[in-house]
Amino acid sequence: MTSFVTLTSPATSIVLEEAGPGPPIWRYWGPALPLGVEPPSSATVARLPGTFALEDEAHFSLFPTLGDAGFFPPAVLMHRDGLDWAPRWTETKTNALSSSELVLEFLDDVAGVEARLSLQLDPLTDCLVSQTELVNHGGASVDVLWIAACNLLLPKQCDHVSYWTGRHTNEFQLQQLPLGAGGFRRENRQGLTSHNAMPTIFVPTKNGSVYAAHFAWSGNAVTDIQPLPDGRYALQMGEWRTPGECHLEPGESIETPAVIATCGHNGAAASEQLRRAMRQKTTWPGGAPSRRPVQLNTWEAVYFAQDEAAMIDLANSAAALGVERFVLDDGWFKGRRNDQTSLGDWEPDPQKYPNGLAPLADHVVGLGMQFGLWVEPEMISPQSDLARAHPEWVRATPGRARITGRHQCVVDLTQAAAQVHLFTVLADLLASLPISYLKWDHNRALTADLPQATYGDHTRALYSLLSRLREAFPTVEIESCAAGGGRIDAGILQYTHRFWVSDNLDAVSRLGMQREFLKIFPPEVMGSHVGAAPAHTTGRSQSLPFRCAVAATGHFGVELDPRTLSGGDHKTLRAWIDFYKAYRQIIHGERVVLGPEEDGVAWQAHGSDDSWLLFVYRTQLHAERYPAPVPLPFVQESASYTVERVDPAQGRFRHASSFWPPDDARRIHGAWLRHDGVPLPLMTAEDVAIFVLTPNDKP
Ligand code: GLA
Repeated sequence: MTSFVTLTSPATSIVLEEAGPGPPIWRYWGPALPLGVEPPSSATVARLPGTFALEDEAHFSLFPTLGDAGFFPPAVLMHRDGLDWAPRWTETKTNALSSSELVLEFLDDVAGVEARLSLQLDPLTDCLVSQTELVNHGGASVDVLWIAACNLLLPKQCDHVSYWTGRHTNEFQLQQLPLGAGGFRRENRQGLTSHNAMPTIFVPTKNGSVYAAHFAWSGNAVTDIQPLPDGRYALQMGEWRTPGECHLEPGESIETPAVIATCGHNGAAASEQLRRAMRQKTTWPGGAPSRRPVQLNTWEAVYFAQDEAAMIDLANSAAALGVERFVLDDGWFKGRRNDQTSLGDWEPDPQKYPNGLAPLADHVVGLGMQFGLWVEPEMISPQSDLARAHPEWVRATPGRARITGRHQCVVDLTQAAAQVHLFTVLADLLASLPISYLKWDHNRALTADLPQATYGDHTRALYSLLSRLREAFPTVEIESCAAGGGRIDAGILQYTHRFWVSDNLDAVSRLGMQREFLKIFPPEVMGSHVGAAPAHTTGRSQSLPFRCAVAATGHFGVELDPRTLSGGDHKTLRAWIDFYKAYRQIIHGERVVLGPEEDGVAWQAHGSDDSWLLFVYRTQLHAERYPAPVPLPFVQESASYTVERVDPAQGRFRHASSFWPPDDARRIHGAWLRHDGVPLPLMTAEDVAIFVLTPNDKP
């Protein structure tokens, strides 16, 4: 009698078939099946042998290996000095921890290894979390080249793969490749998440549902989708490893980071589900995200030109704008005049700050703002006291020329003494100053600069350092930055509270990047700042309201020098800061809906059924004489809505009657908004219209 194991969540189901001593066979992962629905017959009975095929050819299981009678992508690649290279599972133990959680153990008593697979289908997020472990039970060590953190089944109807590439100042560039017999493979070998190969994919199918997967890891990674003999696909994600990187002595084991995967009835649903899972990753001081404070970051305001008097002056003008957190960026520490020296010397520069940072930090706190500090702890400048005192902590291979990036080297975090030093230095700063926020940067990729590769261990050491700091200073928030958005992933999100998306503050570039970011991560962790015009990275200029409106959909900040603003611009920026403060709970609330980009318009709505804030960005002029209404699929069909326009720059949330919608057009039925749409005012290019939609009568 065939038996099946099912995992269910409101939107998705998984069906596995138990199969002899080997791992269960994959039968289904996709949109929810009604309770109790099982496959019509067992996989073994249903399948006729192929011509010229192997007798008893294996079925695609939860954990395929080279020892299977099948040619599936192996979930593990290992050997014991050339032997035991093709494990075949001789025993399986399935432990159902609940209706949504399974732990499976696969044993091979011939090769002397065991694999463990944990699958959790979270009913709150509809996301599947998959993680694996490999244990060496043999008498000699094992070299592991690959262990997949997930091995998932995707249907034949998969149409293409959407993924993101990019670079410094141009992150989150969406790409698409058709999925077919060639499969899809993407590797990241840069030692941190990277700008161009963040391990996230969306796979839309021809029947509408969309699969999405993200590898919760800040290091090297592989995403691999390979066709199966019946045209369906295997999806694996895991750490990319160099030869010799992973070695298990007898009794040792290695656990992979987790993969978060989901299937939504469309792309918007898949994003919603992923964002819910991401929200569970962050551990907030106090248990829940506080209202995300308006930040001022000093980087583009002054770059390296800082000192106590100038920063106190800048803090005063920030406070006058309504800023709530002042973040002192790069340039504050000993000897740092440009980006060529001093990383590692984490003490205030005696010339810029002769009295240390306390006078500035205390002044900032006295103004009612939080004080934040930029650090780049994993890095070391060859020109630094630290490198001179501890050359052995600098990642380097004897006999080979040093590879630098932005003139800097990387600290070998896997050395306990180096890690203890960094903890002590950071803990001293946090204990001696009123610091409530660290901007944690990482401005170069890791290269092959150690005799033995330790990429994965480097990332694990970073996590352990962050975790120790979080434990010691639980109220301090941390931002993850890596030359802009080079380290944005759910792995580091477990220790941090904000991502710096990009060093590009041009609002048009930024709008596109942020909309892609929001397909994966929630808005409250999306650092988004108003920059100067022209933008330092593109040379383009947009109006201050447009720049503010683009920044307002994330964790809002200012990254320009307010002292240089005209009186009018100062007033405008202040009004937008007030707007953000008034609406941030809706902006960071339950849901984000990203509309299509059509006819020069991109819209997005933040909120919940209680109230929505709709941002309509016009980036280009419309083609016709008048813009068409924009249908809003997120409103309730049975409710009627009050639609109000908000224009912070015209006055404090004044529902001005001088522009659309006029008084008598402010009540619109949900069905009308869904099917015909919200009428748009005439707008110039690089302009925004913001609406508040409130249901009058809740259905
Ligand atoms: C990186 C960051 C910037 C800034 C500089 C400082 O480029 O992305 O925001 O902190 O480093 O050197």
